[in-house]
Amino acid sequence: MNALELKSLSKSFGAQKALDDICLSVPTGSRTVIVGPSGSGKTTLLRMIAGFEFPDAGSLTLNGQTLVDSSHAVPAYQRQIGYVPQDGALFPHMSVAANIGFGLTDTGAARTERILALMDSVALDANMANRWPHELSGGQQQRVSLARALAQQPRLMLLDEPFSALDTGLRSAMRKMVARLLETAGVTTILVTHDQGEALSFADQLAVMRAGRLVQSGHPMDLYRYPGDEQTAHFLGEAVVMPARIESGWAHCDLGRVAVNSNGFCGSAQIMLRPEQLQLSDQPDSPDARQGCPAVVVERDFAGNTCTLTVELHPQASQDQGRSLLVRSTGMHAPPAGSAVQLSVLGPAHVFDLA
Ligand SMILES: Nc1ncnc2c1ncn2[C@@H]1O[C@H](COP(=O)(O)OP(=O)(O)OP(=O)(O)O)[C@@H](O)[C@H]1O
Ligand SMILES: [Mg+2]
Repeated sequence: MNALELKSLSKSFGAQKALDDICLSVPTGSRTVIVGPSGSGKTTLLRMIAGFEFPDAGSLTLNGQTLVDSSHAVPAYQRQIGYVPQDGALFPHMSVAANIGFGLTDTGAARTERILALMDSVALDANMANRWPHELSGGQQQRVSLARALAQQPRLMLLDEPFSALDTGLRSAMRKMVARLLETAGVTTILVTHDQGEALSFADQLAVMRAGRLVQSGHPMDLYRYPGDEQTAHFLGEAVVMPARIESGWAHCDLGRVAVNSNGFCGSAQIMLRPEQLQLSDQPDSPDARQGCPAVVVERDFAGNTCTLTVELHPQASQDQGRSLLVRSTGMHAPPAGSAVQLSVLGPAHVFDLA
């Protein structure tokens, strides 16, 4: 069953079209992640679902209840939707405890206990309860805002880049903790993020926005492997894109003959591979390498457990003089710049522009 249904939502600010005919179904209890470049309309969409912005056209229903359409709108405070805005938006004149307890009906010891439990659930130390928002770091403010939203036991939670001010380790720990917390409580969640890794790991459903439009949605792995266009491909991770001639399930390209999922398509197209689909060997006599494509490592970008190599195909292999490709390698065994290598391709390439 779908908890939330967005139907043809549109919104303009003057001449600026912030949302353009957005349709999306969010299943009950699921985690939907919205990604897209800055200014693509992500915050506007969340604010509209929360009830702080109103559409020029379209409708929005939650668990079968119409929240807004052309004739009426349920006010924000009656929607039972938790919203953690991009900047946290804490009440500046209230302590951490008062911010978190803002909507709680509990009093006395029960209230204090509940506030401390909520602080604990977002990894905030109990001794911060009496601090003022301006005495907190950006990441701590985001967590207070999250605890305040959780306190309301919402039926839908909207999170606008809630982990953006946290360092990598805490960010991933918080993400897992919040995911568990929301899942246990059965709360349907929509998260906005700029972080591709976060989007792919948090989402049951991923939605990509661009210039106010929802350009693609689906399971994160499908979007990563079968992006609708080149821009989406690059948005969700590094991608190797090159022209090819498609024939009988094979792409003929600078990498030689590569298997593709072409659904019977024949002709010219762009193909895409993820860097981890390119395997590199610096042992020219190994059986794999003999069938591979000759290349030279021109740059090595070491990042600890992985290493991204820029390799240039041998000029004879490349239609474009010296085509450069990205290849992923384990950090420890990556060959240095200048090494002669052989490239082979793993798994099918994705074909764009089949329409
Ligand atoms: N109140 C407003 N008045 C005028 N224009 C607005 C208003 N709110 C948003 N916009 C415009 O609408 C577009 C979408 O803005 P929005 O904040 O939704 O983007 P976003 O995808 O959340 O971006 P970011 O990733 O930078 O947070 C932008 O061009 C923005 O300038
Ligand atoms: Mg935003």
